[in-house]
Amino acid sequence: MESLHGCGPAPAASFEEIKARAEKTLCRTYSRYPVGVRAARGSRIWDFDGREYIDLLAGIAVTGVGHAHPQVNAAMLRQMEKLTHVSNLFYQEEQVLLAEKLLASNHCSKVFFCNSGAEANEAAIKLARRFQRKVRGEDRYEIITLSSCFHGRTLGALAATGQARLQDGFAPFPPGFLQVEAENMEALRAAVSPACAAIMLEVVQGEGGVRPLSRDYVRAVEDLCQERGLLFIIDEVQAGMGRSGHWWAFQHYGVKPHIFTSAKALANGLPMGAMLCTEETAQGFDYGSHATTFGGNALCSAAALAVLEVMEKERLPERAARLGLWAKHRFEGIAAALPGSIREVRGLGLFLGIELAAPGKDLWEALLRKGFILNLTQERVLRLLPALNIAEEDLEAFALALEESLAERK
Ligand SMILES: Cc1ncc(COP(=O)(O)O)c(C=O)c1O
Repeated sequence: MESLHGCGPAPAASFEEIKARAEKTLCRTYSRYPVGVRAARGSRIWDFDGREYIDLLAGIAVTGVGHAHPQVNAAMLRQMEKLTHVSNLFYQEEQVLLAEKLLASNHCSKVFFCNSGAEANEAAIKLARRFQRKVRGEDRYEIITLSSCFHGRTLGALAATGQARLQDGFAPFPPGFLQVEAENMEALRAAVSPACAAIMLEVVQGEGGVRPLSRDYVRAVEDLCQERGLLFIIDEVQAGMGRSGHWWAFQHYGVKPHIFTSAKALANGLPMGAMLCTEETAQGFDYGSHATTFGGNALCSAAALAVLEVMEKERLPERAARLGLWAKHRFEGIAAALPGSIREVRGLGLFLGIELAAPGKDLWEALLRKGFILNLTQERVLRLLPALNIAEEDLEAFALALEESLAERK
């Protein structure tokens, strides 16, 4: 059983004081949960007062092997003693070992390491444009994305995301982005112009409410890319790294994108992203075309390598598939027992969304009071992104609390 023992002393200041000081010093971007985190291990979080929570959010799909995994911690400590950062001007063994292991999990042959999901998507967009121009000799630059998508907050990634709510006040955006309705092949076909370079999508839309796209649609998009000379880009920032039940969520669909991106769970909490591509697509970059100071430094690479080793050794993608299916059925059982409370349970593996019949802020608050940390997206979708090694009993405890809270709400 997880225990607070050994997690260090209580914070010097109270939660209320830290909250007030945070409001004073930190930019107003996040509307934070009313919890100050003191320590975290596995799938447990402890607040400033030592209260224990079951973590079903894992730092928004980041700590895939759980908080403070001993093997990942040991790898980081070893690496810190040896080499943290020298820049990408040098060859580093850690980066190569990671690249080889990461590439072995899919069909791609080259990788560019960076620091976040948005940066990985920026690299994907830049590579697609440069490939079309420099390798194919065609002036294609337009990137088509789908309604309700989310690709990040930098100007390029936000232009790709295309949501008015998130773009408010930030115009002008870089041109060359176009959005079409998801699951509508006719609209997509009509949107492809001679200037189109690529189509980019998440096979499971995360921020958009945990919405897996249909197999027919994703395969038809791949066919369209083939037919029209477009690059197919898949954003695996949230769905990837074993969470869906395969290493990469697109592997459920039987497609092979030219480019895909990863971040979040890659280094279990150290900031890291990756853009992976096929050998041919990689020809779009030359020495000096793209760069990052920190991306893939020895410390982050050693951590990510340890994450992949843990996932492989503990067979976490398979576990996510099995446990995710069990949880989905369990939540569907609650929906059936309490008609009118849950509209739909969606997801792949341990990437689960419970769409409520009504807005769910009160329910989310009740679950937090009962000691469960999860996210509410799109006002009515409870989003679960737990560590892939979370105990089945933790998910069962959540199911009981959900059942109870829904019944209390009636
Ligand atoms: C699918 C997807 N792409 C990109 C991003 C952006 O990642 P980051 O916040 O690391 O820039 C996110 C973040 O939630 C995401 O879910």
